[in-house]
Amino acid sequence: MKPAHLAAALLSLTAAAPAPRVADLSGVWLFPRSEEFPGLRMMRLSRDAAGWRGTVTTDWYGDMPMRALEVAGGKARFLIDNGNPRLPPRIWTATVDRAGLHVTGDIWERHVDAEVKRGGEADARRLAFPLAPLPAPATLRPDGLAPTPPMGWSSWNRFAAAIDDRTVREIADHLVSSGLRDAGYRFINIDDGWQGTRGPDGAIRPNARFPDMKALADYVHARGLKIGLYSSPGPKTCAGFTGSYGHVEQDARTFAAWGFDYLKYDLCSGEGIFRTASQVRLAYQQMGQALRATGRRIVYSLCQYGRDRVGTWGRDVGGHLWRTTGDIEDRYDSMAGIGFDKDGDPATAGPGGWNDPDMLEVGNGGMSEDEYRTHMTLWAMLAAPLMLGNDLRTMSPATIALLENRGVIAIDQDALGRQARRIRKDGEAEIWSRPLADGSVALALFNRGETAREMSFAPEDAGLSRIEALVDVWAGVPDNAGRRSWKIPAHGAVLLRLRGQP
Ligand code: GLA
Repeated sequence: MKPAHLAAALLSLTAAAPAPRVADLSGVWLFPRSEEFPGLRMMRLSRDAAGWRGTVTTDWYGDMPMRALEVAGGKARFLIDNGNPRLPPRIWTATVDRAGLHVTGDIWERHVDAEVKRGGEADARRLAFPLAPLPAPATLRPDGLAPTPPMGWSSWNRFAAAIDDRTVREIADHLVSSGLRDAGYRFINIDDGWQGTRGPDGAIRPNARFPDMKALADYVHARGLKIGLYSSPGPKTCAGFTGSYGHVEQDARTFAAWGFDYLKYDLCSGEGIFRTASQVRLAYQQMGQALRATGRRIVYSLCQYGRDRVGTWGRDVGGHLWRTTGDIEDRYDSMAGIGFDKDGDPATAGPGGWNDPDMLEVGNGGMSEDEYRTHMTLWAMLAAPLMLGNDLRTMSPATIALLENRGVIAIDQDALGRQARRIRKDGEAEIWSRPLADGSVALALFNRGETAREMSFAPEDAGLSRIEALVDVWAGVPDNAGRRSWKIPAHGAVLLRLRGQP
């Protein structure tokens, strides 16, 4: 093309689509609606005497404030975070182009690269994220539920969101036939993945894998068991299903009407909406009050990953257990990292309210038998809720033996409800101790090392001057009062129940 023609072509292009005059980025900008996560709706930028400000509005996290916003030369640069303090904020840019704005950025694992178009105030009203009110602060009275740590089974660790009515019924049957119900495991908890959409009346409906929640609850109850469910204070659960945002009281009534006895309430997308510690607390209080208002006795499990010292206020919002960390994985280092070091403040645990270091992985295959024995020993010492996380239909005898040991369960369920404390740490050898209601003491010897080691204890480790009776709980050896030393395999544990003179 000759230069003259090129100039003419450029001229005609310019005439057809005049360059936007938008040195001004202010206004409402509309995202194309296609993606599921995070459900980008619109952006709003404005400038006043204090400078530029802006928000990105999404289905998952509501209005996300633009932080450190800088605007220069037809380009905005800002940071977005979804309220999760563990994730670094991400850099976004919005650059004026012929079509509107070209927006790039990241939100969790998703990369955003979108053309956004100018919209008006009517669009902004249509796409606004509705703000659901939070209640005034209140303190709920203890209701007598969960006098000992709740025990049962939960679908998540083994099945994730691939859970259905039939599997839940089969698991309930096997909880009974394996003898584990009679060992104390009573709850059958459906975690994330049961939810469908809301009906015209706003009521939450299960998805096609759960044809009739009431019938399922009846089936479970008929086996002498209780049944639990899962939701989130945010609009979306962690696996992207419908959460209770804007429908808290209605959902509590629905869960009660179906006959549910337990609710795990998982912050998930709510962390983008409830951005301060007091908002998170009020969001949990709101569901706590809603559950109480149903008149049904429902155990309330708080899952906000141990933020904001939840143990100090979990009971006040109606909680009976509260997670102390992010998710456990079926690996020794994950289990040990939580159980030994992120197990919650023992001072906050006791009858009616428990630190929850997450559900069990025993029987899922990622740890050795010694490591799973350590998992059970540690959880029992911690007075942790014992939620089986494996497929009860295909358990090996070795797995059943780990899960059903009555002496271990008795320590977990001890009526005094005192969580163990670490009393000695010598490199990778640790001794933990927990007083029990009948005056005896549970003592656990842990070998966190990679090789077997000899470990011993002294009576003073258990706060005793003289040992009169000693039960090796796993070995089932009833009385061996003189023994002080054990050879403990790598990543292994010995659990003792001692009686003696103070
Ligand atoms: C979060 C919770 C898990 C599980 C999943 C479900 O990660 O911490 O225990 O409930 O959500 O999506």
